[in-house]
Amino acid sequence: MNFEEAKKKMSDIGQEHVFRFWGELSETQRSALLKQIEHTDFSVLSKASEGSANARGVFAPLAVMQRSEITAREQELYNAGVKAIKAGKTAALLLAGGMGTRLGSDNPKGMYNIGITKPVYIFERIISNLLDVVNETGTWIRLFVMTSEKNHDATVKFLKEHDYFGYKEDKIVFFRQNMAPACDYSGKLYMEAKDRISASPNGNAGWYSSMVRAGLDKMLADEGIEWIDIFAVDNVLQRICDPCFVGATVLADVSVGAKVVRKAAPDEKVGVMCLEDGRPSIVEYYELSEEMMNAKDKNGDPAYNYGVILNYLFRVSELSGVADDKMPLHVVKKKIPYIDENGNEVKPAEPNGYKFEQLVLDMIHQLSSCLPYEVIREKEFAPIKNATGIDSVESARELLKKNGVDL
Ligand code: UTP
Repeated sequence: MNFEEAKKKMSDIGQEHVFRFWGELSETQRSALLKQIEHTDFSVLSKASEGSANARGVFAPLAVMQRSEITAREQELYNAGVKAIKAGKTAALLLAGGMGTRLGSDNPKGMYNIGITKPVYIFERIISNLLDVVNETGTWIRLFVMTSEKNHDATVKFLKEHDYFGYKEDKIVFFRQNMAPACDYSGKLYMEAKDRISASPNGNAGWYSSMVRAGLDKMLADEGIEWIDIFAVDNVLQRICDPCFVGATVLADVSVGAKVVRKAAPDEKVGVMCLEDGRPSIVEYYELSEEMMNAKDKNGDPAYNYGVILNYLFRVSELSGVADDKMPLHVVKKKIPYIDENGNEVKPAEPNGYKFEQLVLDMIHQLSSCLPYEVIREKEFAPIKNATGIDSVESARELLKKNGVDL
């Protein structure tokens, strides 16, 4: 894209100010800015207003495979899972493109050291959990790692320096997720540098389209990968591609398996697995009506009682039917560092604008069927979102210790 074309693209949407520093830029900087303008989808800016316009359908409960059933069928589920894993049909995908702003570290979240007497990194814990399955089944599982352009180099360098914490290098594939522009409350783009419009990762639902953009759908097909376990970087206890979960999802013959935990209280702040207009979906805690909170299933148990933990096993053949443009765009107020009109850097202490994200949970709603699979919270759910307090380094350390992990 040349300067004239870029200028037209930006003036058509009232954003010519992105060229304010053009006169001061080197040739390399100019071409970087032109390239960014060419590759960025600015249509999200038209949604720049508070909250996401997300009209919901009719909710109904969705039956969960509970621990009692899992225990009763353990051998059968385990065998089916091991069979799929040994046949190379299962891959894992680490969602590591997030900014981890709540944790407040400048490094990628996976680099955070949660050790007490020795270094124990988040990435290390995650890989160790996956290695358990590799060792148990005698099979290397393909591991995809999604980064963003903000943390890609640091992530790759760190993992290489630590010898991938024992994982086989040629079994790991990194790819970058797409970015979305960020703007102030009136929809005006922020600049993060004189040659760069502020942009942030476009949400964790970006994983499949970003994989396709990187040509990795071909790798899935070539390697005969039929199932892919998507998981968050910050849950240091979760099992990944564990045979019983894989086996249960394969045998249930569904589009996706979803790990869920029993809610700690009816009003706990977690997204709850359910049906929406007959399709699997997740209802946010603030969308749960009083009536839904008190509803009971046929056994007399609460009908909306299982929260998602961002660990899903997707059937690969159904992913091509998932369209980004059918997913709602979440418009989120965030702190966005920027440079002002004089080129001075500003690091806001409070949210100062909008970022645009699409979320994995909205992918689920595009699929036809889902098996919610109950895992024990104390054994599989230790998210690290904050430094202290709820879902923090502190709370995760306690849970790790309870599970016998040496810190
Ligand atoms: P969170 O929603 O907790 O976001 O991500 P975050 O960016 O890590 O943290 P905050 O909100 O800024 O504090 C849940 C998972 O989704 C990944 C994260 O890396 C984490 O594993 N994620 C999130 C992406 O991979 N890309 C994104 O654009 C957003």
